Amino acid sequence: MRPEAVAALAEEAARVGNPSSVHQAGRAARKVVEEAREVVADRLGAHPTEVVFTSGGTEADNLAVRGLGRPADGAVTPRRVVVSAVEHHAVLDPAAWLAAHEGAELVLLPVDDAGTVPLSALEEALDGARGPGAVVSVMWANNEVGTVQPVAGLAAVARERGAFVHADAVQAVGRLPVDFAAAGLDAMTVSAHKLGGPVGVGALVVRRGVPVEPLTHGGGQERGLRSGTVPAALIRSFAVALDLATAERQAEAARVAGLRDALVAGVLREVPDAVVRGPWPGTAAGALARLPGNAHLTFPGCDSEVLLFGLDQAGVAASAGSACQAGVQQASHVLAAMGVPAADARGAVRFSLGWTSTAADVAAVTDVIGEVVARARAAAHLG
Ligand SMILES: Cc1ncc(COP(=O)(O)O)c(C=O)c1O
Repeated sequence: MRPEAVAALAEEAARVGNPSSVHQAGRAARKVVEEAREVVADRLGAHPTEVVFTSGGTEADNLAVRGLGRPADGAVTPRRVVVSAVEHHAVLDPAAWLAAHEGAELVLLPVDDAGTVPLSALEEALDGARGPGAVVSVMWANNEVGTVQPVAGLAAVARERGAFVHADAVQAVGRLPVDFAAAGLDAMTVSAHKLGGPVGVGALVVRRGVPVEPLTHGGGQERGLRSGTVPAALIRSFAVALDLATAERQAEAARVAGLRDALVAGVLREVPDAVVRGPWPGTAAGALARLPGNAHLTFPGCDSEVLLFGLDQAGVAASAGSACQAGVQQASHVLAAMGVPAADARGAVRFSLGWTSTAADVAAVTDVIGEVVARARAAAHLG
């Protein structure tokens, strides 16, 4: 967490007051929440009434996929759900749930070998009568291989065909220019802990006038879309982190992309047969084709678990697929969708860099990677 976000969290958590209470302390907490809402909306290109605070990205994704375009009266109509094959499980699993429990027709959009969804795939999925009322969800940027999707183009295709369109922007906000209104989206997910804010808070931005059915029912907070006591301290801390992340975004993206490029070059120098997956180079036609802090490398002849263990012993924290699935050894659905055979995906490692990363961190990886890979190869050979 950014120190400023920690300070805001600590200060606010020490105060009494439920933002929904009418007493003085409650009104003060409400003011904190509404000021934060204005900051969050402004930095995301949205109107304050469009921001619905949630417990994080997973809840916001579920709310969008399951509730978007559905009137709050709870009427269930089986429908078409169109998501990319490389979505986070927070989108894939509620989409699969709708198919299993409500008879929704689920369409998985294919990606190319860099992980990009072609506009033509969405056009085909929403062809003719299949467009109106469908829910489309394509992430702004991928958490495993860093691919930046053509969100505005996809949103235009969806809306022209009468579909509702959501983007999971958890990885994009604070790293790429993100403007909700300009992108033409109906809904967008954000999570605070990806920007130096606290874990346990995020938001679904919902365009005004777009119907959404809530997942939780209770006190009616957040315009009835997210019942539950509103966590003023988490929300204030989220706004502080988002404000800093967006203010520093441009300079930080350039700095971090430079470090990432040095990391990839250093790893390839030590392990020349390592393979970079996802868009490479990371910048195309002056724009970021890939998240600036994402380096995804596959080491032939290695198991990623053995690599991660060796790196961890050397003081390097890296992940295989998404950290959220760590501990469960599974081939990455993202690499599979990109056409990478399971055997080639086995030695995948994702290095993530962020606002705290330095050139010394890069050197720490390049110093040890050769030996870590050699040991992992020997282990695979023995095994
Ligand atoms: C793309 C993406 N979507 C959703 C999530 C889930 O967000 P949260 O951890 O806030 O629930 C993550 C990772 O945490 C992510 O990388």
